[in-house]
Amino acid sequence: MCKDYPTRVKNNMKATAVAPSNIAFIKYWGKKDEVLRLPENGSLSMNLSNLLTTTTVEFDKKYRQDEVFLKGSTLYKVEPSQEGNDPKRVIEHLNLIRKMVKTNLKAKVVSQTNFPSGTGLSSSASGFAALTLAASKAAGLNLSEKDLSILARQGSGSACRSIPDGFVEWLDGSTSKTSYAISLFPPDYWKIADVVAIVSTDKKDVSSTAGQKLVSSSPFFQTRLQNIKIKLERAKQLLTEKNFPLFGELLEAEALELHAIMLTSRPSLIYWTPGTLKIMKLVKKWRGEGLPVYFTINTGQDIHLICEQKNIDKIQEKLKEIDEIKNIIINYPSVGARLSDNHLF
Ligand code: PMV
Repeated sequence: MCKDYPTRVKNNMKATAVAPSNIAFIKYWGKKDEVLRLPENGSLSMNLSNLLTTTTVEFDKKYRQDEVFLKGSTLYKVEPSQEGNDPKRVIEHLNLIRKMVKTNLKAKVVSQTNFPSGTGLSSSASGFAALTLAASKAAGLNLSEKDLSILARQGSGSACRSIPDGFVEWLDGSTSKTSYAISLFPPDYWKIADVVAIVSTDKKDVSSTAGQKLVSSSPFFQTRLQNIKIKLERAKQLLTEKNFPLFGELLEAEALELHAIMLTSRPSLIYWTPGTLKIMKLVKKWRGEGLPVYFTINTGQDIHLICEQKNIDKIQEKLKEIDEIKNIIINYPSVGARLSDNHLF
């Protein structure tokens, strides 16, 4: 595997990319442009080493129409109709790339994700980042990291953060060209982890895309926007200082603020299940007992526990005792999207 975008794939009509999902510490929720997916605010995230999508794309005249195959892992069956893995959105993304290289060639896309989709683990981020790198490369484009991030953003907003390495900031921007993600620090910068607890593999009832459209119906959204710049700067400062307790407090409060907006939208969005809530309360209890761990949650019931790597074992032991938890996935900070020689077909 390699991040050397320009030279890696010899046959430039077929390419494979691997991309991580990411966890946002400061969240993206609300768009100022629906089509271009320009966010209302900047966000901050970490790429995740063990939540991955691998995608192979081939453009060839032998394909009379686009063929899209989205496979789950052996552990989880991913249905093609799931948001973020929707073949229609994949084809729209291919159309953007076809337009850039002025071709009508159809493509075959095979994509494999090693974690459940539609449960709050951002499979659309890894999915559209992998698709962007594989499809642009297969089409013969040698895009810069910035241009890959801009293109990935148009497939799924959070996908732009899965292109650069490690700890990442998405610069909100006011135009398509100025809204992209950059790496603030490499993966080995800070030894923290994201211990993901899979509470259930049931799919969420409202997709992120649909949920985001409700954002301005929450009476608290304007207040969030008034304070978000200062919050983002504070988070970046704490990341720079590697101040884990204060960083953890801030990211947990941010997750709760996101869900306060969701809960007070009309109609309301409730992504938690009793299992999610049980873990939220336990995390606070464990903290009270001296274990520094903080939670964050996206659009789904599965929950991310952020801790220092030295505490992973302790947290895993505690999680194993909770009946509601179906699986635990340990994630370290990771590189972003990269090319691979292991084609899926
Ligand atoms: O990229 P989308 O449309 O799936 O939205 C992601 C939104 C959150 O996961 C809730 C927050 C974030 O910044 O990742």
